[in-house]
Amino acid sequence: MIPDSELHTIPLNNNHNLSSFNCLSRELNDFLKNDALNDQKSLISRTSLCFWNDELVGYFTLIADTIEAKAVIDGLEHYEYRKYPGVKIARLAIDSRFERKGIGTYLLLAAIGKTLSVCDSIGCRYILVDSKKNSIGFYQKNEFKLVEKYKNREFVPMYLNMQPIVVEINLETKD
Ligand SMILES: CC(C)(COP(=O)(O)OP(=O)(O)OC[C@H]1O[C@@H](n2cnc3c(N)ncnc32)[C@H](O)[C@@H]1OP(=O)(O)O)[C@@H](O)C(=O)NCCC(=O)NCCS
Repeated sequence: MIPDSELHTIPLNNNHNLSSFNCLSRELNDFLKNDALNDQKSLISRTSLCFWNDELVGYFTLIADTIEAKAVIDGLEHYEYRKYPGVKIARLAIDSRFERKGIGTYLLLAAIGKTLSVCDSIGCRYILVDSKKNSIGFYQKNEFKLVEKYKNREFVPMYLNMQPIVVEINLETKD
């Protein structure tokens, strides 16, 4: 395991050298190297890179999104809109040499942290992800629920309710 104190995340910029990054998914490698910066400049997505000892070990990309109100089991009782607002983890990947060392969890918490600051100023009830089949266990371990009716899709929609997290943080900061 790599201790969180040895990891740091910074926003992607023009000066980063991304060539060494290699995770198990070609699509996730290609996105980072070819599209992430342009998408960021066009305000389509925002990418954060994670470094350990000056080595690029992972990244995640966030976008604004929504989830169907009917898809969640922890929605509000008298909600009058068709969708809930949220932030989606559009990409999250760890370099294959660094898998299973706690970096994925660290980046998920960093993504939740960014979502919390969105919740401060913009309505945003869920953090969302369309998970690859073999990563579902990783998100479930981190309290994400899957959308039952779409569980056979190639990418399975999953969600985490931000409300209990916001409540807990507000209680902690009052102490
Ligand atoms: C899935 C991924 C993000 C996990 O990151 P990671 O750094 O390897 O995960 P961590 O070391 O933080 O693991 C945290 C826990 O989740 C578990 N876990 C990790 N990957 C898992 C998986 N694919 N399925 C089930 N559990 C998994 C670990 O065993 C660990 O459990 P433990 O604390 O009981 O030991 C990473 O393996 C990855 O980038 N994979 C390839 C790309 C990908 O699939 N991205 C997701 C796109 S939706």
